[in-house]
Amino acid sequence: MASRFQGLAILPLLGFAAASCISSGDQNTINNLFKSGGAGTVVQICAGTTISVTGTITFTADNQEISTSGYPTDETRAIIQPASGSDVSMLLSGYGYNGLRVKNIQFDGLRPSLGLVKDGGATIELGQNSNGIEISNIVSKNARAWSCLHLLQGGTDTPCTNVTISNNQIGPCGNEGLNSAGVSQWADGISFACRDSLIENNYVTGSTDGGIVLFGAPGTTVQGNTIVSSTTDAGFGAINMVDYLYDGSYANVLVTNNTITGEKLFNVGIAIGAYAWSFNDDASLQGPATITNNVFSGNIPFAIGVNGWTGGLTVTGNDVSNVNSPTSGYSDANSCVAPTRDLWKQSAHLAYYPTGLTGTNNLQSGFVAADGNSTNFICTAPSLPSSISYGLNELNVGVNTVLANLHNSIVTQYQGDGNIVTYNTSTGSYVPVWASGHTSSVCSSDPSACSCDFQGDGNFVTYASGKPQFVTGTQGKGQKLTFLNQSPWIEITDSAGNVVWDTTDAN
Ligand SMILES: *[C@@H]1O[C@H](CO)[C@@H](O)[C@H](O)[C@H]1NC(C)=O
Ligand SMILES: *[C@@H]1O[C@H](CO)[C@@H](O)[C@H](O)[C@H]1NC(C)=O
Ligand SMILES: *[C@@H]1O[C@H](CO)[C@@H](O)[C@H](O)[C@H]1NC(C)=O
Ligand SMILES: *[C@@H]1O[C@H](CO)[C@@H](O)[C@H](O)[C@H]1NC(C)=O
Repeated sequence: MASRFQGLAILPLLGFAAASCISSGDQNTINNLFKSGGAGTVVQICAGTTISVTGTITFTADNQEISTSGYPTDETRAIIQPASGSDVSMLLSGYGYNGLRVKNIQFDGLRPSLGLVKDGGATIELGQNSNGIEISNIVSKNARAWSCLHLLQGGTDTPCTNVTISNNQIGPCGNEGLNSAGVSQWADGISFACRDSLIENNYVTGSTDGGIVLFGAPGTTVQGNTIVSSTTDAGFGAINMVDYLYDGSYANVLVTNNTITGEKLFNVGIAIGAYAWSFNDDASLQGPATITNNVFSGNIPFAIGVNGWTGGLTVTGNDVSNVNSPTSGYSDANSCVAPTRDLWKQSAHLAYYPTGLTGTNNLQSGFVAADGNSTNFICTAPSLPSSISYGLNELNVGVNTVLANLHNSIVTQYQGDGNIVTYNTSTGSYVPVWASGHTSSVCSSDPSACSCDFQGDGNFVTYASGKPQFVTGTQGKGQKLTFLNQSPWIEITDSAGNVVWDTTDAN
């Protein structure tokens, strides 16, 4: 009796401790509470509080929780963000613990003001050998590295399993393209590699790599999510089933009732298979998997693209009636292989390569069959310009450079042999429509010896070992060099806008 009474007497104290919340400090404040409290420790941050960190907040035992006091779902949720001047990208981590909970709290990587972190970790990294992680009602946005939220796989006998990710607001995550230092800026919304889990009712906006990326994730259901690309930065895919993990198994994955909207562009809505993405896996990915009752709209050339799948695929009841057509109205396919480009030309929003889909399958009506190996459904780009212009000294490049990648499949390159060539690539092969004709074996053997320069004097010149090759002779007149997607392909104008040279002139 006595010991039971003591136990009860302590309860009010525990209750008081749980109700108190943190209103200042940094990652050390929180990490010390997790370390000293051990399993089951709940760390609550007071509503309206912003905690700036210079290092990662780390779970240290089973059943720990981080949340905002009172579990608000609005902007009063506490904010965890990097301190200015800090290069931390991973704000929260926890590997190998059961029952972790991340609830009603915001993580802001502050990428727009603090910049991206090359090779940094995802904003939130949880998983490995664990059961029952729950992430709900959180915000994770502006990741400084490759993902706003990453759930990491465990081993075969020590799986990461039974994760619930629900009612979260994810994004924006990343930017399109490379930065000026050549570093990739893309980021995923949710990168998911656990199994037998549930990802539901999340709002993922402005992902630039994958919105929800399944790394196999056998037994996982993805349902009721809304995935919207950014209006300013294209996203590659909304839901990815393209990565090889679990020996390629996506057994019993169910993707249903998701709403996918391409604003600027989603290259692909749901990408399915080993050859559907820009890389190729070693072997086909395997089902059985079911993709059903998803709704697509907006700018998505390939709402569903399948290549490299076996072992069962059911794709039924998906609605692509509000996907914009024709695809050429908002995208270009200059970088696509011929079979994928053919699908794009047909505005084939449901697309597959029959040879790349073996085993039992049930594809809804409306799927267009590729007549060849239609790899890489993310090969399209947002609409390209019809022309590109350079002022004096604005173009000075080495060999193997694309000078202009233009709408309607017109590409002009300064090639490895020193030749400037304009191609019409609309059929998927590179058909030359104009060439400077000046080639030099020097450029092939020593690329650094050659350059292509719209000079300060207005002359457009290629050089090999310091000797002019192709010369437009426009020194003293030329002010602007323009590449066009129609004949004459290249022209130089003077300060009054008069053409002083084009490709029909001798040189
Ligand atoms: C899954 O995790 C939840 C906690 O999120 C737990 O309550 C439940 O028992 C777990 N289920 C299984 C089958 O382990
Ligand atoms: C579909 O998902 C929405 C949330 O996006 C939810 O409100 C609705 O109940 C779901 N419908 C079905 C049939 O599951
Ligand atoms: C399609 O192309 C990919 C990449 O080159 C290749 O790995 C795959 O085997 C091809 N598929 C078929 C059916 O040939
Ligand atoms: C490029 O080639 C295609 C196919 O031959 C042709 O229809 C199109 O007009 C060409 N484009 C230009 C700008 O000449």
